[in-house]
Amino acid sequence: MPIADVSDQPLARLTSLKDRVAVVTGAAKGIGLAVCRRFAEAGAHIVLADIDKLEMDRAAAAITKDFNVRTESVLTDVTDEKALTALADTAVRVMGRLDIWVNNAGIFPGRSTLDLTVDEWDNVQAINLRGTFIGSREAARRMSVPGKDGVKGGVIINMASVAGFRGRPGLAAYSSSKHGVIGLTKSLALEFGPANIRVLGIAPTGVLTPGVTSRMMVAAGEEMDRIKSMEQQMAKSVPLGRLGVADDVARVAVFCASDMSMLMTGATIPVDAGAMLP
Ligand SMILES: NC(=O)c1ccc[n+]([C@@H]2O[C@H](COP(=O)([O-])OP(=O)(O)OC[C@H]3O[C@@H](n4cnc5c(N)ncnc54)[C@H](O)[C@@H]3O)[C@@H](O)[C@H]2O)c1
Repeated sequence: MPIADVSDQPLARLTSLKDRVAVVTGAAKGIGLAVCRRFAEAGAHIVLADIDKLEMDRAAAAITKDFNVRTESVLTDVTDEKALTALADTAVRVMGRLDIWVNNAGIFPGRSTLDLTVDEWDNVQAINLRGTFIGSREAARRMSVPGKDGVKGGVIINMASVAGFRGRPGLAAYSSSKHGVIGLTKSLALEFGPANIRVLGIAPTGVLTPGVTSRMMVAAGEEMDRIKSMEQQMAKSVPLGRLGVADDVARVAVFCASDMSMLMTGATIPVDAGAMLP
């Protein structure tokens, strides 16, 4: 059965994620948390996965309270294959189905390649790329089996980066991992399309998140003036003239996860304030 034609559906229904079940990795803060909150606002039940149990539990409680949807938090390190399998099993067991899976957990340590150790390189690939492969595989294994309603399929969203399209000095491991995520997204879209599983990537530019802020703090020696001036420089470097906030990315994730993007798969969508145009 090919993917449905939804042209006769009203916009309110197309943008809704009501009663769908979404797993989001790296959900405790930053972009992952913003994605969880917008998905919940659109009606989805959320399974949060992160290594930061305290922040994740806090986030899950706030989402349930604010949006009246079900949440489950599952302590998950995406470098651990067994943990990702358990996460997918938990989502299906607790929520009864699995419709959306967001591979968002990622790290972006900066280091000159001359100083980069093999362990540091491997760790970036293990979280950003290998974790995305395993998460996608576990999601697709479950989405390709028809649910109680006889419907099979789903959406996998991979968090890439503008660094997945271009090189950056000091970010060789990160940039390579995100180029890999974009290639993986294309290949999985081809493989999973016949099972009605759409696979999309999102490539943000600089977004002010706890991860980015703590990197800036280190680079600026915790001097607030220097941090402010770094932020201003980053904002000035993009045509739209401002840094991203996590919700800029989360709104695009809702589009990708919803039936609005029904005929899209394999693409990685820049959310880049025009950064990649010049
Ligand atoms: N913020 C940006 O400027 C930016 C730009 C482009 C792409 N991205 C991508 O967006 C994603 C999220 O970035 P962010 O800025 O929100 O990061 P962040 O550091 O603010 O948050 C990342 C979350 O992932 C969790 N995490 C880290 N390692 C994990 C692991 N092994 N298993 C499970 N969870 C883990 C952290 O605990 C944290 O909650 C990443 O994939 C990143 O590469 C971010």
